[in-house]
Amino acid sequence: MTGTSVDLVILGGGSGGYACALRAAELGMSVVLVEKDKLGGTCLHRGCIPTKALLHAAEVADAARDGDRIGVLSAVSGIDMAGVNAYKDGVVGKLYKGLQGLVSARDIEVVTGTGTFVAPTAVEVDGERYVGANVVLATGSSARSLPDLEIGGRIVTSDQALTLDEVPDRVVVLGGGVIGVEFASVWRSFGAEVTVVEALPRLVPNEDEFASKQLERAFRRRKIKSRTGATFAGAKQTGDAVTVSLEGGADVEADLLLVAVGRSPNSTGNGFADAGLATDRGFVRVDERLRTNLAGVHAVGDLVEGPQLAHRGFAQGIFVAEDIAGLNPPVIDEAGIPRVTYCEPEVASVGLTETQARERHGEIQTLTYDLGGNGKSQILRTSGAIKLIKAGAPGTEGPVVGVHMVGARVGELVGEAELIVNWTATAGEVAQFIHAHPTQNEALGEAHLALAGKPLHAHA
Ligand code: NAI
Repeated sequence: MTGTSVDLVILGGGSGGYACALRAAELGMSVVLVEKDKLGGTCLHRGCIPTKALLHAAEVADAARDGDRIGVLSAVSGIDMAGVNAYKDGVVGKLYKGLQGLVSARDIEVVTGTGTFVAPTAVEVDGERYVGANVVLATGSSARSLPDLEIGGRIVTSDQALTLDEVPDRVVVLGGGVIGVEFASVWRSFGAEVTVVEALPRLVPNEDEFASKQLERAFRRRKIKSRTGATFAGAKQTGDAVTVSLEGGADVEADLLLVAVGRSPNSTGNGFADAGLATDRGFVRVDERLRTNLAGVHAVGDLVEGPQLAHRGFAQGIFVAEDIAGLNPPVIDEAGIPRVTYCEPEVASVGLTETQARERHGEIQTLTYDLGGNGKSQILRTSGAIKLIKAGAPGTEGPVVGVHMVGARVGELVGEAELIVNWTATAGEVAQFIHAHPTQNEALGEAHLALAGKPLHAHA
C-alpha cells in the first residue's frame, strides 16, 4: 500500500466536508478530500438545490395559472418534465462546475473513490492510504424507509422523486415533515392530486404549532389533503397503482408513494465501528467542539445529531477547520440556526418555539402579525402571519427569542429574524429601525412595532 500524508483528510465532499476543505486550505493546510460520488453531495445534487429549482418551476406554474385573476391572461397548458428537469439540471451543473473550480483553485486534492476510515487518523481508498494529522468525517445522510416498506417501482424517496419524467396524477406523501410538504407543494402546483400522511398530529411538527396551523389552512385552500395523526399500515403495488393503507382508515390509491420519513446518518460501511468510533443511534458522538472519541478525528454535518441542514454543515465544517488551525472559534448555537421550508406558502423560523420558550424562560409574551396588514403581501396575494416570542412577562423589555413566519417568500425574511434572535434584540430596539415600504420585510418591522406596544397597521 502506498501512502500520502497531509494536514487534513476529509471523508465526504458534501456541504460539511467541502466547506471544511475550503476553509482549511485558506488557512494554509494541505487537504485531501475523499468523495465517492460528486463534490457537493446531497445538497447540490439530490437535495436543496434541485428541489428548490422544482419549487421555482412550481411557483411559475401557479403564477401562470393565477394570472387571469389579476388581468394577465395566461394559463398552464401542461408541464413538460423534460424541460423542467433540463432547467433544474442546468442550475445544478453550473453550481457544480463552480464548486469544482473553487476546490481546484485552493489546491485541495480531491480523491474520487469510496473511502474507509482506519484508525487512528487515516482513510484508505482503493489500496491507497491517506494519513492526516487530523481527519474530518462528513459522510452525510440517506433517505430512510420504514421496516416493511421497500423502495422501488411506484414507491420512491426524494432521490427518485427528483428525476421523474412525468407528473403523477395522484400522489401519496408519507411524512409531513420538510421533504414531504415541499414535494407535496411541487406536485400540487404541477396539477397532481396530493395526500400527505403524517403520523404526528400536525404537519411540520418540528415547527411552532402556529406554523403548522397556518400551513395546514393554506394546504386545504390549495386542495392538498392532509391526513395527520394517521398510522401507516402498509403499501401494495399493482401494475398501474400503489395502494396505501392507514390504520382504521380507508385505503388511498395513487400512482406514486413518496416516502419522506426522515434521513439516517451514513455511519455504517465506512469502517467507523472497526476503528472504534463511538456512535449513538447511528449518529457519530461528538462534543460541542465536534470532536469524536478518537483523538484528531472530528465529525460534521448530517452525521452529527441535530438539524440536518446544509447551512449547519457549512458552519460546522468551517468551525472545525478553524478549531484545528487554533483560531478557537466560538461554539455553534444550534437554536440560532435559521430553518426554511420552501413549500407554498413558505415556513421560516429561527430560535425557540412557544413551548421551548416557556420551558426555558417561564414567562413569555407572544405576538402574531397577520400579513393581511402588509401591502406587499397583498400585492403578491399571499396570506400568512409572523409570530414573535419574547422572553419575560408582557410589558417588560425582554429579548425576542423566537420568530416564526408563514407566507409566500418569507424564507427571504429569515436573515433579519436571525440577526434579531442571535443578537438578543428587544422589540423596542428593532422598532427603531425603519423598514422599506412596501416590502414583505416591513411586516417583520411592524410585528416588532406591535410587540413594542406601538402598532401601525395592526391592532394593539
Ligand atoms: P423530517 O424529520 O422533517 O420529517 C419526517 C416526518 O415523517 C416527520 O414529521 C415524522 O413524524 C413523519 N413520519 C415518520 N414515520 C412516519 C410514519 N410511519 N407514518 C407517517 N409519518 C411518519 O424528515 P424529512 O422530511 O424526511 O427530511 C429529512 C431531513 O432533511 C430533515 O432534517 C430536514 O430538515 C432536511 N431537509 C431540509 C430542507 C430545508 O431546509 N428546506 C429540505 C429538505 C430536507
